[in-house]
Amino acid sequence: MQVKLKQKPIFIVLDGIDGCGSTTHSKMLKGCLESEGLKVCLTKEPTDSEIGKLLRVYLKNKEIPPTTDALLFAADRDLHYHSEIKKKLDEGCIVISDRYIESSIIYQSVSSTDISVNWVKLINKFAGKPDITIILDIDPRISLKRKIDLDLEKFEEMSFLKKVRTLYINRAKEEGYHLINSDEIIELVQENIQRIVNDRLK
Ligand SMILES: Nc1ncnc2c1ncn2[C@@H]1O[C@H](COP(=O)(O)OP(=O)(O)OP(=O)(O)O)[C@@H](O)[C@H]1O
Ligand SMILES: [Mg+2]
Repeated sequence: MQVKLKQKPIFIVLDGIDGCGSTTHSKMLKGCLESEGLKVCLTKEPTDSEIGKLLRVYLKNKEIPPTTDALLFAADRDLHYHSEIKKKLDEGCIVISDRYIESSIIYQSVSSTDISVNWVKLINKFAGKPDITIILDIDPRISLKRKIDLDLEKFEEMSFLKKVRTLYINRAKEEGYHLINSDEIIELVQENIQRIVNDRLK
């Protein structure tokens, strides 16, 4: 018999390289948890705040210094956590965020030798930590082909994404994040994500 899942205020993050499937799987996970009768809030980064909107413009502009990007991502996240994520958790909801701090740690530190992992952690220190971080791992040659949007952002280059992928894998091992192979059929990847989440909701 299937075990009934309990409503618990847990904060789940799906993260990984561009086109890894974080948006697809965040939505599918929300649908699955809701079908179990659970209250779920789905959110994403960059957010739709004014800072998030500015970030989306800057992501197309190679003239913006990586340090500026890092500070704006941190500001967007700080606001995101305090104005949305924390409130939803306090109401007892499960929160799923499509990308979070790990994206900043990895993308910003790979973008510039001036930026250390520790500095990115420091500027993000007031944003609450997720309970579960799931990294969707895939070769960038495959993930970029999946993307129909040809208006690529500045991070979406093969050599850069190879470094990004390596750092995601290394940090997942260091931090004990769940690392899932996203180069499988969507249903199978989602099943593996649900297994991790359901384990926490029993
Ligand atoms: N396992 C999979 N097999 C085949 N196609 C997939 C798989 N997972 C996702 N896709 C497809 O790949 C594309 C990119 O997926 P998605 O938008 O979820 O990725 P993302 O990580 O959110 O990308 P972005 O970095 O642009 O936000 C979508 O068209 C999606 O349907
Ligand atoms: Mg996405």
